[in-house]
Amino acid sequence: MTPYRNPALPVEERLEDLLNRMTLDEKCDQLLQTTIGPDVNPNNLGDGGEFRPSIGSILSYFGGAHKRNEFQRRAVEGTRLGIPIIWGMDVIHGWRTGFPVPLAQACTWNPETVEACCRVAAKECSAEGIDWTFAPMVDIPNDPRWGRVMESFGEDPYASGLFARASVRGYQTADPSAPDAVAACLKHFAGYAASEGGRDYSYSDISARKLHEIYLPSFHAGVDEGALTLMSSFNDVTGTPAVVNRYLMTEILRDRWGFSGFVVSDWDSFRQLKAQGFSGDPEKVAIRCLSAGNDMEMVSECFKLLPELVRSGRLAEAVVDEAVRRVLRVKFKLGLFEHPYTEEQPVEATALLPEYRRLARKAAQQCAVLLKNENSLLPLDPASIRTVALVGPVAEDAAALVGNWRGNVDPATVPTLADVIGEFFPQSRIITVPGCGFETAAEGEIASAVEAARGADVILAALGEEWNRSGENCSRADIALPAVQRNLLHGLAATGKPVVLLVSAGRPILYPELEPCANAILHLWQGGHEAARACFDLLTGECNPSGRLAMTFPRSMGQIPIYYNEHRRARPDQGYYHDLEESPMYPFGYGLSYTSFTYSDLSIKEDLTASVKVTNAGERRGTETVFLYLSDPEAELTQPARRLIAFRQLELAPGESRVVRFELDKMRDLAYTGPAGERIFEEGEFVLSTAGLTISFECR
Ligand code: BGC
Repeated sequence: MTPYRNPALPVEERLEDLLNRMTLDEKCDQLLQTTIGPDVNPNNLGDGGEFRPSIGSILSYFGGAHKRNEFQRRAVEGTRLGIPIIWGMDVIHGWRTGFPVPLAQACTWNPETVEACCRVAAKECSAEGIDWTFAPMVDIPNDPRWGRVMESFGEDPYASGLFARASVRGYQTADPSAPDAVAACLKHFAGYAASEGGRDYSYSDISARKLHEIYLPSFHAGVDEGALTLMSSFNDVTGTPAVVNRYLMTEILRDRWGFSGFVVSDWDSFRQLKAQGFSGDPEKVAIRCLSAGNDMEMVSECFKLLPELVRSGRLAEAVVDEAVRRVLRVKFKLGLFEHPYTEEQPVEATALLPEYRRLARKAAQQCAVLLKNENSLLPLDPASIRTVALVGPVAEDAAALVGNWRGNVDPATVPTLADVIGEFFPQSRIITVPGCGFETAAEGEIASAVEAARGADVILAALGEEWNRSGENCSRADIALPAVQRNLLHGLAATGKPVVLLVSAGRPILYPELEPCANAILHLWQGGHEAARACFDLLTGECNPSGRLAMTFPRSMGQIPIYYNEHRRARPDQGYYHDLEESPMYPFGYGLSYTSFTYSDLSIKEDLTASVKVTNAGERRGTETVFLYLSDPEAELTQPARRLIAFRQLELAPGESRVVRFELDKMRDLAYTGPAGERIFEEGEFVLSTAGLTISFECR
């Protein structure tokens, strides 16, 4: 058997054998990625055009297993060496079964849930011929105006790294060559979320220190977990656009972290270098992008020039070889040479299985965050409610519950709040009325909805963002809900009836105006396929809210950027905005429960084992997330007022107590990251804190 076709040989041996057989043109073709069809990203409307069967990759093609096989046959049987094509797709929070958007998944604080959602997404999409997902996005945002915050795991680098790991495990499994595993892609490398003012694709000025302290750790975690690919980013990082950033893609990623997979560029980003003011010369761009560390060009135009650049002596073939090696290595690791085709099965056999929907419901329950619950209005007792009014544009809108980047999720299969409310209030009269659209209202629409709701015992106001208001290229100058929805809520509040505000959104929104109008508030995020049932599970107490915010909610647009791990101010009592209360509206980690938890006995031993006792002091079983923060009051490079170093989730019965232990590590947890990415430990005093308890200790 030809060595490269022999699965018994080590991958490195196979790939060297294959590389040695390839012509320059065949090699360069492996570095090209094209699109032959449309996907749900409005930027990515391919023209359905032709492709060369020797191409490395196809992206964003919704053709199903049959079409994939037809195309793959042309590569595997119709080319000299039969190198399979790798299919990439944005499977961001589910493929056919919609799971909560990643920011919502982070609010579960449950890496097992995140892993399980990614696992199902991988099973569903691989069954339809997808080998590779462009996820997880592990950018660290601190500006909710940026539409892509919904794709992130929130503002904390440590947590984002843990969720990155969970995603990689879920997508790739321990054996990425398994037919139901897909390659993960950590994106966007790096600093995309720092785009100025939350404006998508704009400049980002990132100090060396911030790069290493905030923006790189989540990528490092994902690489450490074995992510097979990364995507370079659109933004310009302090004058060196990410796609030509050799420091990031070669010195850090390869030389320091030992990454051996490949880097794909983002959509058309090479040609965008002209607009960014770097270069509009495609030859220069091809050379610089490849040499910096991109291996595959998404939507290729520039890498098509590579063979000629090598032939004319402007580019060393060895540079091309190295990139080809990385691409082929991933193809071998994915087992594509062994199983290039996808078994053709009916979609019903592989997608939206009952257990997938059950997981979607569990994830949606866990991600919703209870922001307010005045006088314990919630949970509601359906038996005592004669009439319930469900009002607002989200009430009958399935797409809003799913959100953007929905893969192949069909909103027609997603139950709305109105569809399922009867299951939860079987004896109540139910009034459902939108009251307004997402952005506009018809003449008299709000007034008549308010009139209709007046007769109810409780009003559920289902407001939020239309599905495409968050996402790529969805920056907003104002993150308040549109005026019509705010007016509707004011009208409902004026009835004097208890109002429960339900918000479906892909980002933090402004609550100060809404908060006084509602007795209880549940931020549902965009919870996916079973968001509606999960919402009622929570409202009726079938399950107890446990979601906690992974991103800070500001009081006002003027507070942005806002994030919990700020560095300290020179004058702690001064310097704040004189026209605004200083605290955020809802801080990072915030979220209520139907029970209450008390904390005591925070301690730390010489061996750096910290522990704290947590008690369920209420009357219901509940899940609590224990967040452990570290402060380093004095350091050569000053440290954030606090930063998360660990979290643990536990479920407690009423009255039950448990001691939670954290084994801390000096270099991992107490040291900080310097401007070159080095870990620096300074002996002295440290402070641990959790839920209002603090303890200070010395470490040498
Ligand atoms: C986005 C990427 C995405 C790619 C392919 C780009 O516009 O920035 O995140 O993976 O399109 O759809």
